[in-house]
Amino acid sequence: MTEQQDGCIPVGVDLGTSTSKFCDGAKVVYFSSVAGDALTEQLETSWRRMNRSTDRRWLHNLALWDEARQTWRYIGAMTRSSQRQQWFTEGGVLQNFEDAYLAMQAGLFLLGVEREASLGRVAMGFGIPIKAGEEASERFLDKVRERLVTEDGKRIMKIRAKNVATGEVKEDSIELVFSLVQFQAYGAYMVLLFRKFGLKLYNTYVVDVGHGTWISLPVVENEADIAIAHSTPAGIHTITGNISTALFEKSAQKVKIQEQRIMEKIAAGQREVEVPGAGVFNFGAMLDAECEALAEDIMKKVRMDVAALGAKGVSLDYVAIVGGGAKLVFNGLKSRIASFFGWDGPMADERIVGNEALGVDPRYANAAGLMLLARDQLAIDEGKDVDTSLNIQAVASDRD
Ligand SMILES: Nc1ncnc2c1ncn2[C@@H]1O[C@H](COP(=O)(O)OP(=O)(O)OP(=O)(O)O)[C@@H](O)[C@H]1O
Ligand SMILES: [Mg+2]
Repeated sequence: MTEQQDGCIPVGVDLGTSTSKFCDGAKVVYFSSVAGDALTEQLETSWRRMNRSTDRRWLHNLALWDEARQTWRYIGAMTRSSQRQQWFTEGGVLQNFEDAYLAMQAGLFLLGVEREASLGRVAMGFGIPIKAGEEASERFLDKVRERLVTEDGKRIMKIRAKNVATGEVKEDSIELVFSLVQFQAYGAYMVLLFRKFGLKLYNTYVVDVGHGTWISLPVVENEADIAIAHSTPAGIHTITGNISTALFEKSAQKVKIQEQRIMEKIAAGQREVEVPGAGVFNFGAMLDAECEALAEDIMKKVRMDVAALGAKGVSLDYVAIVGGGAKLVFNGLKSRIASFFGWDGPMADERIVGNEALGVDPRYANAAGLMLLARDQLAIDEGKDVDTSLNIQAVASDRD
């Protein structure tokens, strides 16, 4: 059960540099963190006539009415038709509040579409980036509150959405019962707390390897150690960018393979790109070297932080490795951490958690855990025991 007795649904929100992720406990929805200008009505009509895609889902063809600009805007995959695209976040920091507000509306609306019923009442766990973004995130939530309209004393988010492929327009009203903020990576800790630790407190060091950033966040006695937490502006994007540049140099500056194409290949588990007229390029060795280098950088930070924590008398019980980049650095980082602490195989398997042991895809771990945070608060408000289950049955993206 994901719904509370009073029908309020906890939702976790993680607006990342590359994708925005939303979780209601049973479903995950994610889409590219990008908004763009809509076509004119006339162009949109002819686009609809000529659109050859068979994907007519809302998630793939979404436009939202932007109240601030009094115009339709495209979101996620639909921005393929926008002349100008704007990413909501950069280096993990919210760039444009209006666009981020649209993303929030889009995610809540789309979760409703996936459930085949509006969310109705929502308790939100909102993930904020570390440090640089903290204040901005508070201001962002103030902005969100300004946008809500009051009806019968309730704070309501009004959403007007259009499926550009079908032309259908839908309206949605969602009551925002409360919104909590926490660091994005704290979400992953909540997943462990609820699903692995059985609500016992273990000091946990979370490493979140994303698209534009990697984050290190120690959680000690259930609290994020803000003084040590850090976000570094490098991630999987850095790796694919470096590979793109190296291939260009290697081909005597003849072949330019976009960083995005390499990214797509990696995500599909492939290690080769074919360039018509130039041949097939295998970047497997380069990728391995880049991942080792990133693991080494992260390990430097871990060593420093373990020393700083030790000086405060704190030792670590667990290390979690999450984010879309977790799969790429997991092995390299795990072996470094294990040998640093002197943990043997079984101990390392228990205490260094990523991939399978997390029980949820490391990419959605934060969104899922932020949902648990909201669910926990609802239970506290109601004076009930919290439901610690997490059973994600469906994951939907704008580019299926
Ligand atoms: N299966 C996969 N194998 C390798 N890399 C992947 C895979 N799936 C996604 N990625 C990469 O993970 C990155 C996205 O990770 P994630 O969604 O955690 O980032 P983000 O939260 O958007 O970014 P940030 O945390 O930096 O703001 C992308 O660079 C993507 O290419
Ligand atoms: Mg992220």
